[in-house]
Amino acid sequence: MMRRRYPFGRSGDDLVAARLCYTFLFGTVVLLLVLSFVSPSTRAALDRPPVAPVVDEDFYNDGKPDPAKVELGRLLFFDKVLSGNRNISCATCHHPALGTGDALPLSIGEGGKGLGRERMVRAQSPVLGRVPRNAQPLYFVGAKSYISMFHDGRVEADSERTFKSGFWTPAREQLPAGLDNVLAAQAMFPVLSELEMAGHKGENEIATAVALDKLDGPDGAWELLARRLRVIPGYIDRFKAAFADVERREDITFVHAANAIAAFEAVAFRADGSPFDRYLRTGDPSALSPAGQRGLTLFYGKAGCSDCHAGPLQTDQKFHAIAMPQIGPGKGHGDDTGYWRASGFTDRLEDEGRHRVTFDPADRFAFRTPSLRNVELTGPWGHAGTYSTLEDVVRHHLDPVAALEGYDPVSAALPPLGAVIEKGGEGSSLVFASVNPRRMGDFMRRDIWVHEASALRARIAGSNKLAPVSLSESEIADLVAFLKTLTDPRSRDQRNLVPAHVPSGLPVAD
Ligand code: HEC
Ligand code: HEC
Repeated sequence: MMRRRYPFGRSGDDLVAARLCYTFLFGTVVLLLVLSFVSPSTRAALDRPPVAPVVDEDFYNDGKPDPAKVELGRLLFFDKVLSGNRNISCATCHHPALGTGDALPLSIGEGGKGLGRERMVRAQSPVLGRVPRNAQPLYFVGAKSYISMFHDGRVEADSERTFKSGFWTPAREQLPAGLDNVLAAQAMFPVLSELEMAGHKGENEIATAVALDKLDGPDGAWELLARRLRVIPGYIDRFKAAFADVERREDITFVHAANAIAAFEAVAFRADGSPFDRYLRTGDPSALSPAGQRGLTLFYGKAGCSDCHAGPLQTDQKFHAIAMPQIGPGKGHGDDTGYWRASGFTDRLEDEGRHRVTFDPADRFAFRTPSLRNVELTGPWGHAGTYSTLEDVVRHHLDPVAALEGYDPVSAALPPLGAVIEKGGEGSSLVFASVNPRRMGDFMRRDIWVHEASALRARIAGSNKLAPVSLSESEIADLVAFLKTLTDPRSRDQRNLVPAHVPSGLPVAD
């Protein structure tokens, strides 16, 4: 169980002195205001910001990568040419007007149409299924403190350099060398995902290469993507300008593209202009609302939040099991065969989080502590997007197991799957056909299977490491108010990042 710390404490003398000071400086009106909204202990704690402010040195290239690289990365981020069927870009699931996410509990990737809650699966463009996890926000992912990527950290810097790339990833020895950092290593992966960007075997050359596990090398998926870029005039000059080792178009590789995308993400989604940042920089608590100040004291004090949501970005970058509910198709773990018996589909439906990376039983159902920067903008919340209000996900933490038991999956408002396709045939004659509408019920049942099965729910509950904490209703409201002080107003709508055109000429808007 987590140990809770109480980092603040000041003597009574200091309090009296502080009070006198306020009187002289701001007069009786301010004093009354402060006393009526903020308790003396809160005020004393606030004199000393709990964490250091964010600075340029926290980021790669001291926060100033080459602008040519950033601009190239921006175009690639919005260009559907990186997807097998040229129908989805990174921005579809990480949209700058949607808190760098897609506003959905679980993303709808390749084959879907539209953006955000409008994104639907249409019968004419079938989709294999939902992406099993909530699209992570991209705020601050360019900070050096991010030593791993994804909810389960399966892309990690590897100081032992086991593979030539210097990273531990699902591609293991196939990942090429030359990636700038873990964020660039991450960008190598969405393009390989059948559900996210690649599409399905037989539909395009990239999906087929992935299905045959050909990632690296002359006929690997990354090379096939680079070939697409090498023939687009608008990209060739930009790659040459951004990279000293690109002299001719043949020199362009997907590693260059990933490095450029990472440089863009790091700059575009750095978001340290929040009221909280102002407070960290000036030490002046009046940057925060009175409720925000009370919430901050709880967050760094008796509510114990900073045990895991530590540091200036509110994450220790570690993995914890906190009994977050699961909806959706899962990542294919667990040994439950109940769904198989009920539906005839052999899927395993649980998402065991970090356990699938380390195989350490202590990591079962553990997920990386998310940063809470801009958390107000990044819902739905939780690794499967189960909570649709910020207040509910905060309440979950106060008694995780009870919250799991009381959770209603209908509240997640998963958009219905209009069409799904199922695999048929074998090997090279694998074909995809629209699911028989009579099977649709089985796919819907899959979305709530883990949560509805008491034995599976008990496994999640049994792994929980977060002890309950008792807070009053007004304290919960204060915590939520504090979380809102972490919002950089510039992040509310960064539509200005969306390019009018991309070099491939493919449409940018969905
Ligand atoms: C179909 C939706 C979809 C698309 C398209 C997509 N992503 Fe994601 N992204 C996700 C999901 C879902 C996760 C979390 C996956 C997991 O944990 O297994 C994620 C995670 C990430 C992360 C990890 C953030 C962190 O905090 O660890 C980064 C970075 C990222 N995506 C960048 C990109 C880039 C760059 C592209 C384009 C090359 C892209 N994504 C395309 C849905 C998408
Ligand atoms: C034991 C470590 C731990 C403690 C203590 C903790 N959290 Fe969390 N928190 C997590 C983890 C891990 C997740 C993600 C879990 C998941 O998705 O499965 C999370 C998720 C969240 C989210 C959702 C963020 C998102 O992007 O989905 C919010 C909001 C949050 N925590 C706030 C709080 C608050 C407020 C407190 C104090 C009352 C707190 N947390 C205490 C570990 C912790």
